Amino acid sequence: MANESNLFQELVSHCKEYGYIFQSSELYDGLSAVYDYGQMGAQLKKNLRDEWWKSMTQLNENIVGIDAAIFMHPTVWKASGHVDNFSDPMIDNKDSKKRYRVDHLIEGFADELKEAGKTTEAEAIITSMEALIGKDDYAGLKKLIEDNKIKCGISKTCNWTDVRQFNLMFSTEFGAVASENEGDNIVYLRPETAQGIFVNFLNVQKTGRMKIPFGIAQTGKAFRNEIVARQFIFRMREFEQMEMQFFVRPGTQMEWYNYWKEERKKWHESIGIPAAKLRFHDHVKLAHYADAALDIEFEFPFGWKELEGIHSRTDFDLTQHAKFSKKKIQYYDNDLNEEGKPYGNYTPYVVETSVGLDRLFLTVLSLAYANEKWTKEDGTEDSRVVLRIPPKIAPTKLAILPLIKKDGLPEIAKELLNECKGSFMCFCEEKDTIGKRYRRMDAIGTPFCVTIDHQTKEDQTVTIRYRDDMRQERIALKDVKKLVLEKIS
Ligand code: GAP
Repeated sequence: MANESNLFQELVSHCKEYGYIFQSSELYDGLSAVYDYGQMGAQLKKNLRDEWWKSMTQLNENIVGIDAAIFMHPTVWKASGHVDNFSDPMIDNKDSKKRYRVDHLIEGFADELKEAGKTTEAEAIITSMEALIGKDDYAGLKKLIEDNKIKCGISKTCNWTDVRQFNLMFSTEFGAVASENEGDNIVYLRPETAQGIFVNFLNVQKTGRMKIPFGIAQTGKAFRNEIVARQFIFRMREFEQMEMQFFVRPGTQMEWYNYWKEERKKWHESIGIPAAKLRFHDHVKLAHYADAALDIEFEFPFGWKELEGIHSRTDFDLTQHAKFSKKKIQYYDNDLNEEGKPYGNYTPYVVETSVGLDRLFLTVLSLAYANEKWTKEDGTEDSRVVLRIPPKIAPTKLAILPLIKKDGLPEIAKELLNECKGSFMCFCEEKDTIGKRYRRMDAIGTPFCVTIDHQTKEDQTVTIRYRDDMRQERIALKDVKKLVLEKIS
């Protein structure tokens, strides 16, 4: 675990050094739990988003995508239950005045026990915590913290307040003119993208002539005032979700829940996440809207954690929006008649798949990062840092490297760049020795490098170097584009 944690710190530094992720407002000493994606990161994030979008909306003829606004009518969050229920149990340390999410505090302690080899004790504490959270037993949670002498990381004391609830939504004011009634112009930054789908259910169903079962997909920013934001981009205050609400006939939700749980796990495997690093974790305590829920967990360098949530949300959201908006939100199921059953107007049930794009990004990078050392044939040591990002999602696919900056080699490189750049991301680099340029491309995760040398001028061939095994071979210049396209398709 200690090694894993060092490796994770190395990855965090690597992300900054190679233009993947920067601390937000770093110039002003940063803003806690908010991050900016750099030139490499933004492209990797886009590639992951595009893969998800394609898998949902292009490969499923009964799923369509929307892009709803971040600001929504404040009543949306009353109806959805977020104003009253979107809170977490918190505890404050009286000495440091630092506030902690109770589950994070206990999980952090359990992680320390695991690192010290006390796995059984760690698991027992997590089991007790889950049982207490399941019963909303706040006094029991405080006792668990005190009995285990869990200390505040800052004051190092066990001087805790009672456990209380704390709402996680950010709010702001809408419009320039203050309202006479305090609170009237308060709007929230959405804490999930899902509500933008629910309030558009009828719009999409009618204009798209959608027939149940069908899905609406969306990607976009969500905001949560996380109290303890930890582990880099794992838990942020501003993050991106990729959510899909699948509307089904009441009574069929468990069938679809099981379908989507398997489909989503398969999708993660399809983008290169090994099955052994993924597992299902059924929820002990269900959210106010769910009749079944689970997490798809990934084994991050800091342990098994939630990557995606699959929730059977019943008809809760649509029913609530119908109630609060005083509008009818129902589906007229013509097919029921054809099946010999009476015509039906009903409120559809919903199965939701919800994955954090930033967590997916962290998953991909933590699998990809490797610090490799080996002994060469002549007995000397060599090393490299490499990001083994699967070629189809790697930010740059091909680096084109003229061996020297003269003799017409840069011109050939430019021609190849012009031939390929309409089809995939390329990078042309003339500076430094070829060895240094290969190492830099390994470090940013470029799967293929092509070197243009003097032989290229004679026989129209180039050296292609494969990032993962550093193998090199000679291929025809005219085959480069075709080969890369084959490998990334
Ligand atoms: N609409 C359901 C929903 O929002 P959730 O389990 O709270 O469910 C879904 O969130 C996913 O969003 C999580 O599995 C996680 O990947 C991501 N996520 C949630 N909070 C996050 C945060 N603070 N930072 C980064 N990602 C987060």
